[in-house]
Amino acid sequence: MSWLPGKKYFEGGICTVTRNMANQVVIVTGSSSGIGLQTVKGLAERNATIVLATRNKAKTEPLMDEIKRETGNANVDFIPLDLIDLKSVKTFAQEFKTKYNHLDVLINNAAITYLRSAKTFTKDGFEESFGTTYIGHYYLTRLLLDTIRKTKNSRIIFSSTKSATKTPLDWEDLNAEKKFSNLAASVQGKRSSLMFASELQRRLESDSVKVVSFHPGWVKTEGRETADNPTLVKIMSKIFGFFMLYFGKNAAQGAQTSLYCTLEDWDKLKKAGYYSDCEEFNYPPQEDLRPENTQKLWDLTDKWIKEKLGDEATFSYEKNISYEKVAIFL
Ligand SMILES: NC(=O)c1ccc[n+]([C@@H]2O[C@H](COP(=O)([O-])OP(=O)(O)OC[C@H]3O[C@@H](n4cnc5c(N)ncnc54)[C@H](OP(=O)(O)O)[C@@H]3O)[C@@H](O)[C@H]2O)c1
Repeated sequence: MSWLPGKKYFEGGICTVTRNMANQVVIVTGSSSGIGLQTVKGLAERNATIVLATRNKAKTEPLMDEIKRETGNANVDFIPLDLIDLKSVKTFAQEFKTKYNHLDVLINNAAITYLRSAKTFTKDGFEESFGTTYIGHYYLTRLLLDTIRKTKNSRIIFSSTKSATKTPLDWEDLNAEKKFSNLAASVQGKRSSLMFASELQRRLESDSVKVVSFHPGWVKTEGRETADNPTLVKIMSKIFGFFMLYFGKNAAQGAQTSLYCTLEDWDKLKKAGYYSDCEEFNYPPQEDLRPENTQKLWDLTDKWIKEKLGDEATFSYEKNISYEKVAIFL
């Protein structure tokens, strides 16, 4: 479709950074489709050791063969991860640590992207979008922080959406107990992740870890529908999908900024930076990205996880930091 007039504009930025990633270990969550899968392919081409962190073994194994065949890279691994289940997250981290002693890049990519007409919950009782995008990745990152911190020039990358840079957190209804909308729940998960990224970077100030977030663009990926969607929603979704063929990116184009954040020279990446179309995207400072709020969310999330897992809740990295410490976002 690139031949259509104006189409190139919507295909967005291309990652032109070429870096050999031999001996570097990368985890990509939700890499069984869409942007995650294309990111994995791009990194496999650059010789990285990839860990596909996905929940569906039957879907993932043929993809591993495909990636190895297409890229000639045999260092493609799979460790099961279901982000809606905190115990699965913990098992993933344990298995990862038995196999690998360093982690160069963690890409928190997975999310609920299909339409839901009714609210659904994770195994631990969180609204599913918030629970997957934010809580699952929060715990995963916390569990892997010891390995990430001891790896020189490591990075933690969050897949975000631009709406999350302007929509404040709804503190009164974090888990969508009072009202639910699919879109709002998704943005709430992404906003929380943005706050987490900011707080993480602040706490890792003295470590060689960069934490960044990125918007992939509007990308035509699988966009599955749940069976319970009313016919009208299904029709609207098909119409939207049709327009996305022209106005959107395909998955490989959508993976460009994720690749950029992974491949760009470590020194050039901005701490707690936000990227879109392979360049920095600046958004105005906001109240709930102030340290007292990001720390509040961190503490609250720790509390929730401890409540859900009881004695089984462990964190690889505990560090208290004062509210007064200079904030990245101010
Ligand atoms: N597409 C866009 O226009 C767009 C725009 C802004 C941001 N994004 C973000 O980009 C990221 C990738 O989205 P995409 O468009 O590539 O969508 P996608 O093709 O639907 O990919 C989502 C991935 O997340 C995985 N996932 C969902 N729930 C999971 C769970 N509980 N545990 C482990 N993995 C789980 C899915 O696995 P299964 O295959 O097992 O379901 C799938 O591999 C998401 O974070 C999304 O919010 C996308």
